[in-house]
Amino acid sequence: MKIIEKIDDLKSVLATARHTHKSIGLVPTMGALHAGHLALVAHAVAENDVTVVSIFVNPTQFNDKNDLKNYPRTPEADCELLANAGVSIVFMPTAEEVYPTPDTRQFEFGALATVMEGAFRPGHFNGVAQIVSRLFEIVAPDRAYFGEKDFQQLAIIREMVKHLQLDVQIVACPIVREADGLAMSSRNARLTAAQRQAAVNISRVLLHSRGLRVKPAMTSHTDAMTGSSNCHCGLDPQSLEGTRQWVTEQVNAVPELQVEYFAIVDGTTLQPIKNWADSAFPVGCIAVFDGDVRLIDTVFYA
Ligand code: PAF
Repeated sequence: MKIIEKIDDLKSVLATARHTHKSIGLVPTMGALHAGHLALVAHAVAENDVTVVSIFVNPTQFNDKNDLKNYPRTPEADCELLANAGVSIVFMPTAEEVYPTPDTRQFEFGALATVMEGAFRPGHFNGVAQIVSRLFEIVAPDRAYFGEKDFQQLAIIREMVKHLQLDVQIVACPIVREADGLAMSSRNARLTAAQRQAAVNISRVLLHSRGLRVKPAMTSHTDAMTGSSNCHCGLDPQSLEGTRQWVTEQVNAVPELQVEYFAIVDGTTLQPIKNWADSAFPVGCIAVFDGDVRLIDTVFYA
């Protein structure tokens, strides 16, 4: 496995690969790798001749300076994991290498970017689009791999590829969860023991809420943690708004957790829906503060 820091070096290695008609897969990451990343890598290694993994904590996508400062960085451990995973190249550039001059590009994603993460993290998706488009320009991959946990990010990247008419296939990979259900995230490394214990309730409530919708006749509407029935708001939990409020209440009932948003949206437009019948592809997206660590998760209702 080659570890490359300079764009020119990477381009020249990839030019040789491309010359011999080798396919190139890219897994963009910000490091602090976990089994979720390794699942993306496994897909890329299985489907391409050459797999490039980028490790770059992209400053332009952080709207909160502390979040950027505290983002976990474990480059040595990351490289060891990747070497054992069959990766051909790790690209670890500096910020100056990626952005020799400030990236002032503004992307327009319309309504896709005004909800959820877009509403609570202004500028975040513009930064994601800056780095991902830059990586696509440098690597020119045949395929690029992203996790479904960051569901809105996936939609934004697909939209960007369409806008820029890029010749890259975006491959979405399923969410990988810890044994107790917590969605894998680099940010989990920042949780204290108490916060980690609390965090499991996010996926427990989300996954339980699928039952409210999917098997209404068999559901007793039991509280996921306390055993109490129904939503305190008085709404029927089988209704979309009842489910939405039930999830929010249940997560907020855990002392360490504070829901920033929980939205049930159409999986294509990402716009909130009012009734289950309004979408064939309803998706629940949640952002929760666990102490000062912000976690997100996604649940598919169809
Ligand atoms: O999902 C991430 O880790 C980042 O947003 C990405 C896609 C690597 C861009 O920095």
